[in-house]
Amino acid sequence: MYQPRVGDTLAALDTPALLVDLDLMERNIATMQERLRESNARIRPHLKTAKCPEIARLLVATGAIGGCVSKVSEAEVMAQAGIEDLLITSEIVGVPKLDRLSQLVQKHRQVKVVVDSLEGAAALNQAMERVQQPLDILIEVDVGQHRCGVQPGEAALQLARQLATFSFLRLRGVQGYEGHLQHIANASERERLCRQSMGLLTATVADLRAAGFPCEIVTTGGTGTAEICASYPAVTEVQPGSFIFMDTDYQHALGPVYASALTVLATVISRPAAQRAIVDAGLKSLSTDSGMAQPKGLPGVRYSHFGDEHGLLEWSDGETAGATARTMQIGERLELVPSHCDTTINLHDTYYAHRHGRIEAIWLIAARGKVQ
Ligand SMILES: Cc1ncc(COP(=O)(O)O)c(C=O)c1O
Repeated sequence: MYQPRVGDTLAALDTPALLVDLDLMERNIATMQERLRESNARIRPHLKTAKCPEIARLLVATGAIGGCVSKVSEAEVMAQAGIEDLLITSEIVGVPKLDRLSQLVQKHRQVKVVVDSLEGAAALNQAMERVQQPLDILIEVDVGQHRCGVQPGEAALQLARQLATFSFLRLRGVQGYEGHLQHIANASERERLCRQSMGLLTATVADLRAAGFPCEIVTTGGTGTAEICASYPAVTEVQPGSFIFMDTDYQHALGPVYASALTVLATVISRPAAQRAIVDAGLKSLSTDSGMAQPKGLPGVRYSHFGDEHGLLEWSDGETAGATARTMQIGERLELVPSHCDTTINLHDTYYAHRHGRIEAIWLIAARGKVQ
């Protein structure tokens, strides 16, 4: 039976396989900590990226205060795995979700949620009243992304006043995520716009506090902006997710701050022409919402998906893959760096975490497919 084990080399793995380079991942975590060293903000990493309890535990062991998740079903997985301080960063709407949430919160009282409407709050309150359990709430404020969130200032204050009328909701603070800025390649422009967003967020926090509403949690930021957000004393925590792995899309925007720690190992299965090779990793192994994956260490070689299960490697006339010291023979293996880590990880069951090619851990991606 196929059963790769800790201690095996990567040669023991069937492909496609999702690899984590542990040296690089650990370096990324240390880099984020270093970049936040001067601030009081803690890291609440967004676990929707890794979707893996072992990685969540590792992040907590290295100083994270808990985690963010996007969905109730992800929160169920992480809470079950012992990550208690969880923030669900998407609005929770609909009876099935509300029922699941109320059951979860009965056992795991540190699960917190965001809200941006009176209707949403009323439904949450009703669900929690049924189980007679209070729920910690953060008001989501739109700081420029224009996804969810009430408008900063008066609209947030108004929602805070409305929340105060619900007996099972406890206002704990605000979330204001500036997701539209994370991938801006021009660093000073990213910082300028982030400071605008943080201006909106911190002014709203000041308004809420002045009106007597508690705001002990002020949560924001992602991989591209964490240290800018954290430089504001009002910000208590940041929510980066991708920094542990990175991907080519983020790498293009941020440069070499964090290393590409995540790859998909693939095998050349056919060599139909001199400048073409076919690998066993297609759409079902590598997401394409942010473009194509990039062959690692093969600068002249382009990857594109060639259907669900196949991928195409091409290199220009006159060049050969051999110019990069590779012959691309049938059976040869190569690593592909995903263009978007979150959506690629969600395609796989398992991480093979290795150091210098020796497998050190095999981790189940327990929250993959948990989109409810
Ligand atoms: C609410 C929220 N916070 C934080 C993040 C983390 O972002 P990143 O993976 O870019 O660090 C995301 C990502 O989409 C998000 O939606």
